[in-house]
Amino acid sequence: MQNQYILIIDFGNQHNQLVARSVREHGVYCEVKPYTITIDEIKSLNPVGIIFTGGSNTEITKLGIPILEVETVVENDVLKNFLYNDCGCIGDWSMTRYIEAKITDIRNKVGDGKALCALSGGVDSSVVAALMSKAIGSQLTCVFVDTGLMRKNEGDEVEEAFSKNFNSHFVRVNAQDRFLNRLKGVTDPETKRKIIGEEFIRVFEDEAKKIGKVDFLVQGTIYPDVIESGVGDSTVIKSHHNVGGLPSVVDFKDLIEPLRPLFKDEVRKIGMELELPDYLVWRQPFPGPGLGIRVIGEVTKEKLDILRDADYIFRDEIAKAGLDRDLNQYFAVITNMKSVGVTGDERTYDYTLALRAVKTTDFMTAEWARIPYEILDLASRRIINEVKNINRIVYDITSKPPATIEWE
Ligand code: XMP
Repeated sequence: MQNQYILIIDFGNQHNQLVARSVREHGVYCEVKPYTITIDEIKSLNPVGIIFTGGSNTEITKLGIPILEVETVVENDVLKNFLYNDCGCIGDWSMTRYIEAKITDIRNKVGDGKALCALSGGVDSSVVAALMSKAIGSQLTCVFVDTGLMRKNEGDEVEEAFSKNFNSHFVRVNAQDRFLNRLKGVTDPETKRKIIGEEFIRVFEDEAKKIGKVDFLVQGTIYPDVIESGVGDSTVIKSHHNVGGLPSVVDFKDLIEPLRPLFKDEVRKIGMELELPDYLVWRQPFPGPGLGIRVIGEVTKEKLDILRDADYIFRDEIAKAGLDRDLNQYFAVITNMKSVGVTGDERTYDYTLALRAVKTTDFMTAEWARIPYEILDLASRRIINEVKNINRIVYDITSKPPATIEWE
């Protein structure tokens, strides 16, 4: 697929992704490249226009290609004028065309081979599985590892969406016990992350061995992952072991990453066009280690079950209040603290639950969300009434920094 191409050259401007998304929203394909790009590389990309974010470069201006310099964010009219008048863009970038072209690409690449996809139930892996499934049907096997660290009903929802609507092979591995066993007695957050990441790979490998040799491994990598690792120098504060990392034992010829050039909103559009259910397409980001890092201290089945029920009620009240698409992440955390309470005539000594909701564009910084008191009140009353072993609920009013979004 050949689209007109706008090149964005990044001089360390933290808004480069926002600029790129604005260009895409005008129906024009673009990519972000570091300022170290050479003149020859630029020529080979054959851009119809170049945008500098946060700097300028004299050699490049001599190429005779229209240039726009952006200091911070770009005004919509200025961008539109640049794209359509200065560069002669025709707006040939759309998700419908992308899907069609990608399906042809995938079919050509896979031929009559077999592909394997690790399905986590997150937006990216669900969309990539749906797209692959549409392209190669029964030549694809999706493996969904149920870690026991998912939210309420999530495992069943993923199974339902994929075993019914697509004709690929779908395998659900019930690995709850394996994960709980390995997490026994572990309290340190980074150790939990490491264990969960490792165990995931092991379970996946065991399953892949049963399936036998595959030709292709499918990954749900998206564009922000590519830009962040290649251009920016953002500091890593927690080790984000993304579930779905490359298992080295799986014997495959090649990797397929059909979402690699896409931003999250574009991935969601594809999900909608492929008729994935809303609860998969609009799912909020969920950390790879799942509820493992929302149970403070040791992870036990008891605490996980309490957390699942409480978290479900909180999300339900947020959705009923119509706040779900407004908040970027919202969830419950079960703390490791018990305190005294009273129910009827009885003294209780039970867990404290924390509710957390944030607004953010990039998840590197975040504001705590000013949820109306009435909604917090409803959620709190329902949780206390409907969930056992919680007698106190607090709302987290710290932003990031200094706090992080997750509690571990
Ligand atoms: P923090 O807590 O660092 O979270 O402010 C920023 C974003 O990253 C998610 N997060 C993770 N995602 N593996 C992941 O795949 C992890 O270990 C992990 N820890 C945090 C978090 O949910 C938020 O969206």
